[in-house]
Amino acid sequence: MVASTRHDAWQAGESYDAYMGRWSRPIASRFLNWLEVPEGLDWLEVGCGTGALTEAIVRHCAPAGVTAIDPSEGFISLARARVADPRVRFRIGDAASLARMSAASRDVAVGGLVLNFIPDRVAALADMMRIVRRDGVVAFYVWDYPGGGIEFMRTFRTAAVELDPEVRDLTQNSRFPFCTPEGLIALAREAGLRFPECMAIEAPSVFSDFEDYWLPFT
Ligand SMILES: C[S@@+](CC[C@H](N)C(=O)[O-])C[C@H]1O[C@@H](n2cnc3c(N)ncnc32)[C@H](O)[C@@H]1O
Repeated sequence: MVASTRHDAWQAGESYDAYMGRWSRPIASRFLNWLEVPEGLDWLEVGCGTGALTEAIVRHCAPAGVTAIDPSEGFISLARARVADPRVRFRIGDAASLARMSAASRDVAVGGLVLNFIPDRVAALADMMRIVRRDGVVAFYVWDYPGGGIEFMRTFRTAAVELDPEVRDLTQNSRFPFCTPEGLIALAREAGLRFPECMAIEAPSVFSDFEDYWLPFT
């Protein structure tokens, strides 16, 4: 398994939002539409970052409560400022801290764009399953890295590898080979999830000009 590296920098919430927020927000809403879970449930969110999915849960799912965890203090403080809803509790913690959460204490456990960064993702999914009640839902989404999922990033990285072939190993296609429909279903089965399903979620990237495209990379 691939551990996080210095290339995964999770502290500067405002920069992250400029870079990824414009995709992670629409994707979060589409994901929740697909899940179609009832209102009034208790949610757990792993790797909530700056709160894109948390905010969508509050807006679309009328939750009874949401516990949202992330190891980044910077991201959590921005998420707290953004999603000031009494039903939401943000906590600093990584996926390993799920082992300390009570069994059968939530109805839904989710993670958006995070599973590939978790060193022991099978254990994380197994913990999410343990934490949800019987007939609960465990669900997550990741970029389709090997399929070229993040088109704006792939264009950048393809150009970078052409200029310097040594950076090839840092491209996320090779870091996260399991992020394919078959790989994700296999991962879910390995963690013991029953009846895993996978579907594609797409969001268009429209840039107003080159600056709009380039600034987030800087
Ligand atoms: C690409 S961001 C996604 C954030 C947010 N869910 C979103 O959709 O915008 C990945 C997040 O995973 C978190 N993360 C990294 N390693 C983690 C781990 N081992 N356990 C839990 N979260 C982790 C990072 O702090 C970061 O907030």
